[in-house]
Amino acid sequence: MRDKARAQGRRVVLGITGGIAAYKTPELVRRLRTAGAVVRAVLSQSATRFVAPGALAAVGAELVDDEDRGMPHIDLARWADIVLIAPATAHLLARLAMGAADDLLTTLCLATEAPLCVAPAMNRVMWEHPATRANHAQLLERGVLFVGPGAGPQACGENGPGRMSEPLEIAAFLERFWGETGALRDIPALVTAGPTYEALDPARGFTNRSSGKMGYAVAAALAEQGAQVVLVSGPTALAAPPGVHRILVTSAIEMREAVRAHREGLRLFVGAAAVADYRPETMAPQKLKKQADTLTVTFVRNPDILAEVAQWQPRPFTVGFAAETEALEDHARAKLEKKGLDLIVANPVGEPGAGFGTDQNRVTVINKDRTVAWAAAAKTEIARQLVREIIKRLPRN
Ligand code: C5P
Repeated sequence: MRDKARAQGRRVVLGITGGIAAYKTPELVRRLRTAGAVVRAVLSQSATRFVAPGALAAVGAELVDDEDRGMPHIDLARWADIVLIAPATAHLLARLAMGAADDLLTTLCLATEAPLCVAPAMNRVMWEHPATRANHAQLLERGVLFVGPGAGPQACGENGPGRMSEPLEIAAFLERFWGETGALRDIPALVTAGPTYEALDPARGFTNRSSGKMGYAVAAALAEQGAQVVLVSGPTALAAPPGVHRILVTSAIEMREAVRAHREGLRLFVGAAAVADYRPETMAPQKLKKQADTLTVTFVRNPDILAEVAQWQPRPFTVGFAAETEALEDHARAKLEKKGLDLIVANPVGEPGAGFGTDQNRVTVINKDRTVAWAAAAKTEIARQLVREIIKRLPRN
């Protein structure tokens, strides 16, 4: 990990939209440039009402505009190590959430694989409006990084959340992000995610309510840190995160096969899948017909993939999840010990704002000597925090 000058040589596309806080962007450019970053600025039409392009150029930003010939959106999208939008107006957040591509900035946001970081700035009521809340939640779910907004006096005379973070804070946020990025460079990691589906006949089967969101967020956060991530996923509606090699499976048996196939050299295993504990003993070759008033199905135990991985010699650093409806900590700690895990992440199910299908989660992270309850947050944020925890504990070899 680089301790000094984490910004050195980083390529920043700075998008500036039309909020009063745009007047602070020359200061932001100056800080990024001083830290060694290269900055290309893309201004929206209305941004020029609040900041003079000349002021940005004077502190070392290269200005790019919509009129440039060629394919500036693709070139910039590929060039960027990060796309930072500061200030990001409510309108810009709405356009990002819907995937608009009607100007250079939004088009390049769609075309880039670089991380996207936004520093919102708007009136407090606009920030708290349900429409903005929904856009914020959706962008968080997609892994967009948010810096701020802060709370305090606003240009409109109000006081509350919606102030753009200060240039110093934004620059520090990026330094931190860059300082952490790459800590898992080339480390082979495998994540299981989603439910499994255990067939009863060709048309029916047993599954559970896992959406796969938590596991996918963990896979994305590991890839962000440079790990070589294989994601073995049960059936979900989610797209594979960028930079992650996804293998789709259906049943627990298939999931176990896919996991075993990657055993060689594996350094980290995160079992986030909700693997069915049981499967029907036999799968009927034809669709079952209704006959008697009752139907008895015999279930047999599925392999415990996580427990098996924890027994491998040599074994990867092994992290499990525990979805619990009661006695969260006790049950999770018992699983940690029984399965021989390094870390277990316990989350309540059946409680609003956590567990299956939601974008938020509230977890308690347990290892052999510590139990720490984390504040509720978006699954993408919990995933990043978990990855930071893993980085601290992963044995170096
Ligand atoms: O025992 P329980 O199913 O509650 O443990 C949950 C943890 O174990 C999760 O990390 C899950 O991915 C993993 N697991 C597994 N194979 C199973 C059952 C659970 O990998 N058959």
